[in-house]
Amino acid sequence: MRRENTAAPLIPGRCTLPELKRAAAACRACPLWERGIQTVFGEGSLDSRLILVGEQPGDYEDRQGLPFVGPAGRVLDQALAQAGIDRSAAYVTNVVKHFKWVSQGRRRLHTKPNAREIGACMPWLDAEIELIRPRVLVALGSTAAQALFGKQVLVTRDHGRPLPSDRAPYAIATSHPSAILRTETDEQRQQAMEGLVEDLRIVADLVRKP
Ligand code: URA
Repeated sequence: MRRENTAAPLIPGRCTLPELKRAAAACRACPLWERGIQTVFGEGSLDSRLILVGEQPGDYEDRQGLPFVGPAGRVLDQALAQAGIDRSAAYVTNVVKHFKWVSQGRRRLHTKPNAREIGACMPWLDAEIELIRPRVLVALGSTAAQALFGKQVLVTRDHGRPLPSDRAPYAIATSHPSAILRTETDEQRQQAMEGLVEDLRIVADLVRKP
C-alpha cells in the first residue's frame, strides 16, 4: 500500500503518547472515521512491558472512546486476572482505531475491517509499539495476528508459542475474547476460556522473565 494512502504522513515525529493520541483523533486515512463516533486509541502507560492488540473497537468502545470496555473487554479482564496479569500494567490497543459497523434495526453490528482499512491504520499501531517498546506483543485473534505477524499465521495452530517479530522480543498470538462470547454451550465456553488463559499464562511468564 502506498504510504500516502495510510496514516503514515499523520504521525508526528519524536512525539509523546498523548501527542500521538491527539494526532490520531483527527485521522481520516480511511473512510471509517465517518462511521465511528471517535478514534479509539490505545490505553495504558508508556512503560508497559506488555501490549495487547485486538481487532477494532466495538460499539461500547466507540461510545466510550476506550479499548476493550464492552463484553469482550470483560472476558479479557477475567482471562488476564486468571492468568495473573494486571491489566493496568499492560497497554491495550487495536489494529484499527475506528468501529466498522452495519446497522441492524437499532443495533450497530461489527463488520471486519478490510485489508485497505488495516493497512491505512497500521502506522498508528506501529507508532504506539515504537514508543512503548514492549517486551511482549500479544495479538488477540486472527485480524491482529495476521496484521502483525503475517498472513501465514493461524491462531488455531500457532497460538501460545513465540512467533518471530521485529516489533518486540516476544510475540504471541492467542484467541480473541469475542470468540469466547460466540461459543454455543457452557462446555465450549469453558474450554475456549481455558485456552485463552493458558496462552496468557505463557505471556505472564515472558513478561516476568528477567
Ligand atoms: N474487540 C476488539 O478487538 N477490540 C476492542 O476494543 C473491543 C472489542
